[in-house]
Amino acid sequence: MDRIGLREVNATGSTPRNEGTFGTGRPSHPVPRPAPLVGEGLSFTFSPPGRSRKAPAPRKFVFQDVNIQTHPDELVAIVGPTGTGKSTLLRCLGRFLAPATGRVLLQGKEITRPSSRIALIHQSIATFPWMTALENVKLALKCKDISEGESETIARRMLRLVGLQEMAQHYPKEMSGGMRQKIAIARALAAEPAVLLMDEPFVHLDELTAAALRREIYSLVFNPATTLQSVVLVSHNLHEVVELADRVLVMVGSPARIVEEVRITMPHPRSYRDPPFYEYLDHLTGRLEQPSPEVLKA
Ligand SMILES: Nc1ncnc2c1ncn2[C@@H]1O[C@H](COP(=O)(O)OP(=O)(O)OP(=O)(O)O)[C@@H](O)[C@H]1O
Ligand SMILES: [Mg+2]
Repeated sequence: MDRIGLREVNATGSTPRNEGTFGTGRPSHPVPRPAPLVGEGLSFTFSPPGRSRKAPAPRKFVFQDVNIQTHPDELVAIVGPTGTGKSTLLRCLGRFLAPATGRVLLQGKEITRPSSRIALIHQSIATFPWMTALENVKLALKCKDISEGESETIARRMLRLVGLQEMAQHYPKEMSGGMRQKIAIARALAAEPAVLLMDEPFVHLDELTAAALRREIYSLVFNPATTLQSVVLVSHNLHEVVELADRVLVMVGSPARIVEEVRITMPHPRSYRDPPFYEYLDHLTGRLEQPSPEVLKA
């Protein structure tokens, strides 16, 4: 068990703080920095349809009492069965949706609306077909009070970061799916976010393109040239999760809760050929197949 860094979480869905478990196994930073992103006591509810207005059905919980904290330079993955509420949780963490309970702290300060310091990349590859790669990236800088020249310099720097500087004047239709997703990543990074939320970012790519992008993504997002401090990744692909995540949160049940965190201590870049890779994979697969005691209680 210890070898692969498993931890049960307590009834409120958080790891007990006094165990100091929210780490990546890396040496701690000399000056303590606030956690890039904290979700505290988050729940999300909706009204199921089908009852009269006078006697509305009780609101239904998608997830309840979810606590998440990211650390600097950490990639945290959230896994769980389909329909558990992972995408909804990610949107609450970015305050694109309002949670029913709880609060979100960005670098120690509560936020109640979307912030330019949190970027979201989702599964549909969102590039605008009528704009060149450069224009697509510059779009992220529109609301910033900077000159056209500065905006172009930043956008070109981001394109260079994702290796697409040669494609600046090309349109999305002239690019592969992987290149378009890299443009979306360059655009997200151009806004200088502290936190990047990724919802199944590789799901519409063929396996070879996805594997190539996965190999690059970790060094790309945590490149010192970016302002990024944490990434939260939602993925169904456990292979992808074991390859990329420093920590994996397992979300199951109805209402869903985070029932376990698994710290992945293998150094990056990782390969499925590394011996512990399949131990992590087996454990996560088993955890998603078997309902936990918390789920049965729920
Ligand atoms: N406003 C809403 N009205 C009705 N149902 C909602 C609402 N918001 C969320 N849900 C329900 O919450 C559940 C969670 O949805 P969500 O898309 O977050 O799940 P997911 O874990 O991301 O699933 P998948 O793995 O398939 O992407 C779904 O069953 C969805 O129908
Ligand atoms: Mg989803």
